[in-house]
Amino acid sequence: MQSSSTLRILFVTPEIYPLSKTGGLGDVSAALPAALREMKVDVRVLIPGYSQVLKKLRYKRKVADFPEHAPFPASALLSAKLPAGPSANIPVFIIDCPPLYNRGGGPYVDEAGHDWSDNSLRFGLLSRIGAILASDASPLPWYPDVIHCNDWQSGLAPAYLHFHKGKKAASLMEIHNLAFQGVFSPETAGQLGLPPASFSMNGVEYYGGMSFMKAGLYYADRIATVSPTYAKEIQAAPLGFGMEGLLAARAQHLSGILNGIPVTEWDSSTDPHLVQNYSPDDLAPKVANKRALQQAMGLAVDRQVLLFGAVSRITYQKGCDLLLEIARQLVDIPAQLVILGTGEAVLEKELAALANHHPGKIAVRIGFDEKLTHLIEAGADSFLMPSRFEPCGLNQMYSQRYGTPPVVHGTGGLLDTVVDCTPHTLADGSASGFVFHDMTAESFAGTLSRVAAAYDNKRIWRQLQKNGMLKDFSWRSSASSYRKLYLSLLS
Ligand code: ADP
Ligand code: GLC
Repeated sequence: MQSSSTLRILFVTPEIYPLSKTGGLGDVSAALPAALREMKVDVRVLIPGYSQVLKKLRYKRKVADFPEHAPFPASALLSAKLPAGPSANIPVFIIDCPPLYNRGGGPYVDEAGHDWSDNSLRFGLLSRIGAILASDASPLPWYPDVIHCNDWQSGLAPAYLHFHKGKKAASLMEIHNLAFQGVFSPETAGQLGLPPASFSMNGVEYYGGMSFMKAGLYYADRIATVSPTYAKEIQAAPLGFGMEGLLAARAQHLSGILNGIPVTEWDSSTDPHLVQNYSPDDLAPKVANKRALQQAMGLAVDRQVLLFGAVSRITYQKGCDLLLEIARQLVDIPAQLVILGTGEAVLEKELAALANHHPGKIAVRIGFDEKLTHLIEAGADSFLMPSRFEPCGLNQMYSQRYGTPPVVHGTGGLLDTVVDCTPHTLADGSASGFVFHDMTAESFAGTLSRVAAAYDNKRIWRQLQKNGMLKDFSWRSSASSYRKLYLSLLS
């Protein structure tokens, strides 16, 4: 929409590290814009002003007012820069709307873990303001060429833009997790200002209700997701979660671009959270982190025993039930297990009970703890990710970089980032972890025995560690794929 040749992107997201984060989307929302800005793409991020976000931003100034527009309360647009960290200084626009965002709990759920009852309004507003800023109705002098929407919370923006008569940016809808679809009652579409024509199978209607995710997938000019394998999986049941028909029909417009990780933050040779730093050429100090982790978690301190780690949202998606099922076999290897995570109350309780049954061998910490995550990645010998499905997954990349070969279920981004250890992959130097293909306790436990055998052979284990540590997980090539995708939208 502007004459200058700089590519301008409005990146709309419900979470961004370090202001707010519940999972990988928070990491990606900070790291991808940072990588794009290094490539001279002018990316600015739009987020909701949850109370914790406003508290963490010392310097912010108001740049626009949005009057009340029923059912949306009046709001203001603030401008700030991300604080220190791997993505310092990224420009962010924050929607300040206290009636919708100033409260305790999390971004999506209340203290008891229930969805906020006004989520359609909270994220309808995020989508609406995204669409305004991406059109000639914007009060700002800065217009994006492309609006890049992330997950269902911003999915209505492409729908609003579709029905906007004036000039507008091209739109990209990115799926980080199709299991979350933002489904509300059928009246919601009209209440949020979408015309009746939008409420149809060719629109926002979804099994009788309305879905923010479907709105984005239907109306956006392009769709992206976070790994090539997941891009294929979601075009069929069961991982299409009901959207498979639409996604298969739009396959020409769907790209799978693998996430990267912030490699300066996840660097075992400089990581300040570790008790000793180490590198592929000097792995010996890694064991100091194992000792520290065993001590911190109340496990028996033993440098020989195989120590597995897991950091995860505690949900069915992440296969935590499978972890519970194989725990006895794991302990009998013999091996130890440390788990850090938060999530579904029933699974949390079962995991805590598991730790009580195996004192000194299994330790579980329920909570969100950034520092401990780093120590687990460094101190564990091997990292477990038995996810039922995994759009991309970040921890398996952190763990390879930290010389902690992961064990993963062969799905989505896990399949795209971990090379199973076989005589062939060891010989060609690509082996970097262990992949099991059947989502069953037998298949998972059988793979843990393969891990134990490899761990007992120091030469093989060192090679696996080094192969993983030397892989390039930086954002560089992904960011360049996004840049190409944006440019293709403009041509
Ligand atoms: P998802 O987004 O599906 O949860 P990802 O693997 O993409 O999965 O990203 C999860 C991110 O959240 C990682 O950065 C991981 O380290 C972090 N994380 C998850 N649970 C915790 C926790 N309990 N404490 C600290 N960090 C966590
Ligand atoms: C979602 C997915 C995860 C992915 C992350 C960032 O939370 O569950 O696999 O890595 O988004 O894209």
